[in-house]
Amino acid sequence: SRSIRLAVIPGDGIGTEVVAEGLKVLEAVGQKVESTTYDLGAKRYHATGETLPDAVLDELRGYDAILLGAVGDPSVPPGVLERDLLLRLRFELDHYVNLRPVKLFPGVATPLGEARPEDIDMVVVREGTEGPYTGAGGVMRRGTPQEIATQESFNTAFGVERVIRYAFDKARSRPRKKLTLVHKTNVLTYAGDLWSRTLQRVAADYPDVTTDYCHVDAASMFFVNQPERFDVIVTDNLFGDILTDIGAAIAGGIGLAASGNVNPDRTAPSMFEPVHGSAPDIAGQGKADPTATILSVAMLLDHLGLTEAAAKVEQAVADDLLERGGNWTARSTREIGDDITARVAG
Ligand code: NAD
Ligand code: IPM
Ligand code: MN
Repeated sequence: SRSIRLAVIPGDGIGTEVVAEGLKVLEAVGQKVESTTYDLGAKRYHATGETLPDAVLDELRGYDAILLGAVGDPSVPPGVLERDLLLRLRFELDHYVNLRPVKLFPGVATPLGEARPEDIDMVVVREGTEGPYTGAGGVMRRGTPQEIATQESFNTAFGVERVIRYAFDKARSRPRKKLTLVHKTNVLTYAGDLWSRTLQRVAADYPDVTTDYCHVDAASMFFVNQPERFDVIVTDNLFGDILTDIGAAIAGGIGLAASGNVNPDRTAPSMFEPVHGSAPDIAGQGKADPTATILSVAMLLDHLGLTEAAAKVEQAVADDLLERGGNWTARSTREIGDDITARVAG
C-alpha cells in the first residue's frame, strides 16, 4: 500500500524517549512510512526563540498524520510551549475532537481493586478547539492587591454541535450505544445551557443512542467508584483534560493512556500523542513507559484506515500487558518498546 507521510514531533523530556519506541513499532508493523522529524520544543525555543514558525506549520499541513511526544520544560515559563506550540497545533489544524479512550486491559493492575476490564471501557470525546483553552481573557492591575485575572470560556453553537455529533456517531458504533454529557450546568449556566440544548436537539437524529447527563464533580467520583456507568463521554476541553488523567489512573496509569487530536473533516492532518506530558522528574532515565505512545500509534493507523495494522499493534500491547501485569517498572523504556516490537513483527 501507499506509504504514510508522517511528521514526528518528539518534543521535550520523555517525549523523545517514548516517540523512539512508537516509531520502532510503527516500522515493525510492515507499513511503509516516510517520516520527517521536527525539532520543536524547549531546545529550539532556547536556541532561536521560536515555538512554531509559520513556515513549519504550513509544512505540517501536508502530512497524512503527526506523531507527537510531549512538550513543556521547567526551563521555559509555563504556557509558552504548551500554548504556542501544542495548543496552536490543535487549533490551527482544527483538531476539534480530542479522542481519549479509557480502557482497562486484561492483566493490568488498577487502583480500583475490584474493577474488571468490562467495567472500565469508555471513550472520552473531549472538545479540542474551544472552551477555556482559547487564551481569551486578561489581567488588570497586575501585581497589586487589586489584581483581577479573567480567563474566558468560548463555546460556539458550531463548535459544540460538531463535537457532539462526532460523539453520537462514536456511541452508535459501540455495543452499549450510550452517550453521557459531562459539564457543570448548575454553575456554568450559559455554556452549560448551550451544551445541553445542543445534545438534546442532536439526540433526535440518534434515536438508537441512550443519553445521560452528569456534572463533572460527580463524574469524577463515578470514574472511581462506578466506572461502568460510562460508555462514550462528550465534554468541554478543560473538563476533558482533567477527567482523562483520572481515567488514566483508573486504567493502569498515565503511561498507558493514548490520545488522538482528530480533525474528522480531514481538512488537515490529525495528531496522535500520549495523554501524559514531558515528565521532567523521570526524563533521561529510561524509566518512561512508551505504551501510551505505542497505543497512540495504533490510533493513528486506525485513523488512516489501516485497521488491520492498528489491530495488530493494539493486540501486541494487550499481550504484552497481560504478560507483565502491574509490574512494568521492571523494564526500561527501550525494553518495553523492544518487547512490543517483537510481538508486532513476529
Ligand atoms: P506529566 O504527565 O509529564 O507527569 C505527571 C507524572 O506522571 C510524573 O510523575 C511523571 O513522571 C509520570 N509520568 C508521565 N508519563 C509517564 C510515562 N510515560 N511513564 C511513567 N511515568 C510517567 O505531567 P506534569 O508533570 O504535570 O507536566 C510536566 C510538563 O509536561 C509540563 O510542562 C506540562 O505542561 C507538560 N505537559 C504536556 C503534555 C503534552 O505535551 N500533551 C501533557 C501534559 C503535560
Ligand atoms: C494534555 C495536556 C495539555 C492540555 C497541556 C500541556 C496544554 O495537559 O494534552 O492533556 O491541557 O490539553
Ligand atoms: Mn492533560
